[in-house]
Amino acid sequence: MFANSLIDLQNVSTDFLAHLFSLSEKLSQQKNSDRQLVEQRRGMTVALTFFESSTRTRMSFETACIREGVWPLLLDSKGGTSLDKGETHEDTLLNILAMGPQLLVVRCGDDFDLGRFAQTCSTPILNAGWGRRGHPTQALLDAATWLGHRPDLSGAKLLVVGDIRHSRVVASHLELSRQLGYEIAFCGHEEFLPESTQQKVFSKLEDGLQWADAVMALRFQMERHQNRHFENDFRRFSLTVENLKMLKSDALIFHPGPINHGIELTAEVLKDPRAVVLEQVRRGVWIRQALVRMILEGETVS
Ligand code: CP
Repeated sequence: MFANSLIDLQNVSTDFLAHLFSLSEKLSQQKNSDRQLVEQRRGMTVALTFFESSTRTRMSFETACIREGVWPLLLDSKGGTSLDKGETHEDTLLNILAMGPQLLVVRCGDDFDLGRFAQTCSTPILNAGWGRRGHPTQALLDAATWLGHRPDLSGAKLLVVGDIRHSRVVASHLELSRQLGYEIAFCGHEEFLPESTQQKVFSKLEDGLQWADAVMALRFQMERHQNRHFENDFRRFSLTVENLKMLKSDALIFHPGPINHGIELTAEVLKDPRAVVLEQVRRGVWIRQALVRMILEGETVS
């Protein structure tokens, strides 16, 4: 397996998850960085390599690194790098590794085999969103957010609505749900559902909302659909103030972001007290900070 890297959540242990959630909770209470720790880590770097666009994941890793006293070095594919000259992703990462970062954080598409690459590296690697393959830190921060509202996810029911077929977030939740014991069901237009699935599927959104303890709306991935007429099919499954009357009063409403307003949900939904979209973002910093700390301290992240 991978050398202290986190590429997927298939084999993560319950001990690791418990420790991660507990550490991220502890970090959420911390007002300032530990000055002694920051002093010890002077000169250490974490390379944040984003071959695809990101706001939340990138900036929360930057925040996490700064709070942990390690310098975040950012390569953003849109920032005029030698990727423009045709340098490959693999060569780019090998050159960055040659500069000796303590950790490499990577966002990339399906065209790069991050799993194989990680197996060849002695530096720990964190998957920050890999094509449709997985987005483990997103699933972990979602779970941390949910655990902030209920002590145990065993038997809890998560309804995922939207562009499930193209979602790396769903891929990671399917892995994590096996460890934490929550059930996942899907709802959406057939164009957006997986071609085959073992999950429960609701054809009517209202039925799914009645069943769920939490609902997650997923972004309509416009960049993956040539034919925009699907946008209208997608809107049939939008979360609205009206249909959310079917959702339990203590349920949660998630969206990993970015949101297409009026497509996955209407703006009023974000004012619903059950909506925790910005809490997900806050938790994302603490989960990523906890992972950075565990890796810097040599603790296993699996
Ligand atoms: N949820 C998420 O991964 O957002 P970004 O693409 O902005 O990082």
